[in-house]
Amino acid sequence: MPLQIIVGAQWGDEGKGRIVDWFAAKADIVARYNGGDNAGHSVTVGDTLFKLHLVPSGIIHGHAIAFMGSGMVVNPGSLFKEMDMLAGAGVDVSPKRLRISHAAHLITPAHQALDKANEAARGKANIGTTGRGIGPAYTDKAKRSGLRMADLLAPDFLERLGLHTDDANQQLNLLGAPYVNPSDVMDEYRGYIEILRPHIADCSSELTHALKAGKRLLAEGAQGTLLDLDHGTYPFVTSSSTIATGVFVGLGLGVTAAQNAVVSGVCKAFQTRVGSGPFPTEVKDDLAARLRGTGENPWDEFGTTTGRPRRVGWLDGVLLRYAVQINGLTELVMTKLDILSGIETLKLCVAYKHGNKTITDLPFGPTDLDGYEPVYEEYPGWQEDVSAMRDWGELPLAAHRYLEAIARLTDIPVRLVSVGPEREQIVEIS
Ligand code: GDP
Ligand code: IMO
Ligand code: MG
Repeated sequence: MPLQIIVGAQWGDEGKGRIVDWFAAKADIVARYNGGDNAGHSVTVGDTLFKLHLVPSGIIHGHAIAFMGSGMVVNPGSLFKEMDMLAGAGVDVSPKRLRISHAAHLITPAHQALDKANEAARGKANIGTTGRGIGPAYTDKAKRSGLRMADLLAPDFLERLGLHTDDANQQLNLLGAPYVNPSDVMDEYRGYIEILRPHIADCSSELTHALKAGKRLLAEGAQGTLLDLDHGTYPFVTSSSTIATGVFVGLGLGVTAAQNAVVSGVCKAFQTRVGSGPFPTEVKDDLAARLRGTGENPWDEFGTTTGRPRRVGWLDGVLLRYAVQINGLTELVMTKLDILSGIETLKLCVAYKHGNKTITDLPFGPTDLDGYEPVYEEYPGWQEDVSAMRDWGELPLAAHRYLEAIARLTDIPVRLVSVGPEREQIVEIS
């Protein structure tokens, strides 16, 4: 298995970072293929909690080389903060270990200002973006006016950055938003050029050669299937290809690399979403508070990037089956099983009722979920604390039943179950 893809099977925050860290122990390379610092991937190693936004989570293992692919949008200021944090924790982030695609796009302060201004202009119909400039940076990419990593090396880069900021100011003016000073932006970026230069690489070529040489490549997705620009709950999505096929464009790999690939869908044992958009299995009563937590624990359901409380609900099997289909998932990794301990009865959404029809697959994908009522199966819960359990046999019978129902519903095996945020809190299912 030279290629393994780790993709979020829901609306993000499934625990991908922690699972990438687990699989990275056996990988040679870990490569992020989409998104920017809208992502927040937490990895707990002993007493250290790493919160990664841009750098692939596998970098924490000393041996793996990390790549940031052309499908990403990179805010250099955020990247440097993260690199400093990692270096401070003893992680090598030198150019030989952290390679950044020459074709990845840059996020600028003007993109961030536009993101906020666009959201304000949407009013009540806002998307609930992270405000990190993601949408405007991908918009410039699609408009063919974006600035890429390789542009940093051009002699007229700062001039082009100034023109980009002027252009954004015209849009900000129309939106009634404050102006971004081009000379401040140019001054900021002047300092970034020499730091980034040695990291800039031809990722496509380096990764293709590595695969040919038999290296094991772990591709790390950001966000989740239902936030995919084309196949998610549009328009309440992010602006990149989050799904498994995004790997090929986002890393510059030919599709033949997909042969025998393992595609692992990371899925929380319940459903969460941060930001606006449909959520058929959402709950809002005491159970919501129970699933979300109070914010006391680092793993409670508050965004790693923005701190916003996440919306919570029962696991949606219809959407999970859709994730299996659209990603070609070969296996599931279930996270946060420990959070379900102590709930008397678990509900699993197995179908939707729409008018007087009951459906198990979405007819037109998940764009418009209005009017779809979840149909639940109920499973007995368990009281035991599972967080110290490491074997399938140790897990309560009721947990077996719940996980077996999910495997049956999706028709793929559950390969790993995470029972806590720590590196070793994993039950491997052979
Ligand atoms: P990602 O964006 O998919 O990487 O997920 P986040 O890091 O944003 O959110 C997942 C949160 O749950 C983090 O705080 C993780 O440390 C934590 N976490 C991951 N797996 C488990 C688990 O099995 N149990 C518990 N209690 N926390 C977990
Ligand atoms: P990770 O990788 C959860 C959501 C935002 C918003 C929508 C669009 O940690 O799973 P954007 O700023 O991307 O334009 O916002 O997408 N969103 C995420 N939700 N996890 C993420 O990343 C997310 N990245 C973006 O909340 O609803
Ligand atoms: Mg996250």
